[in-house]
Amino acid sequence: MEIFKEIAPLRQRLSKLRSQDKTIGFVPTMGALHAGHISLVERANKENDITVVSIFVNPTQFNNKEDLEKYPRDPDADFALLEKNSCDIVFAPSVEEMYPEPDTRVFSLGSVAEVMEGKYRPGHFNGVCQVVSKLLSIVEPDHAYFGQKDYQQIAVVKAMVRKYMPNFEGEIVSCPIKRESDGLALSSRNVHLNPEQRKSALLISKTLFAAKEKADSGATQKQIRDFIKQNIATDANLCLEYVEIADKDTLQPIAGEYPKNAVICITVYDGKTRLIDNILL
Ligand code: PAF
Repeated sequence: MEIFKEIAPLRQRLSKLRSQDKTIGFVPTMGALHAGHISLVERANKENDITVVSIFVNPTQFNNKEDLEKYPRDPDADFALLEKNSCDIVFAPSVEEMYPEPDTRVFSLGSVAEVMEGKYRPGHFNGVCQVVSKLLSIVEPDHAYFGQKDYQQIAVVKAMVRKYMPNFEGEIVSCPIKRESDGLALSSRNVHLNPEQRKSALLISKTLFAAKEKADSGATQKQIRDFIKQNIATDANLCLEYVEIADKDTLQPIAGEYPKNAVICITVYDGKTRLIDNILL
């Protein structure tokens, strides 16, 4: 496995591989890798000749300084895990390498980026678009893989690529959420949970699974939303930030009483840890 910290030598290496007709799969990450990331690496390995993984904790997407400082970092463990899982190339740049000067670009993507995470984490998606547009231009992958745990992020990245990167020829590939055997969605933030909070966190996925069953048996949007709110409120460690039932493509509220082609997105504080999850209906 090759590790690059700078853009120019990485681009040289990738252009050599491209000239040998190798296809490139790309998995952007912020490190603190877990089985969810590895499932993306496995998919990239399967569908491309070369797998590139980036590890970069992107400061511009954190709207909260403490959250950025607390974000888990363990590059050596990440490199070892990637090597074990047949990653070919790691790109682990410094902040100065990625942002030699402040990125002042403003991405205007309309409603898809304004609801849910866009509303509760102002500036977050603009930072995601800044870094993802840079990474996609550097790596120029045939396929770029994103996990559906960050459901809205995928919709935003797709909208950004359509509007701001019309010459990008690769495909943004959306991959299913990876869960622990008890249902908890894998997240780098789970390391912040103490055993009691870890137990509480389980109620989030359990509630989503039960909500889907209710939707399948004909519950209305209001019934589903009320059920979720009441269920999450039963655990003293959990505090619901929002639950939305939205169109699975546009992420806008759904007209009518019953959810159709919908996704339920939820954000819950478990102690001080902010957890997100979702389920397609
Ligand atoms: O999902 C993430 O880990 C990040 O938002 C991403 C896509 C790597 C951009 O920093």
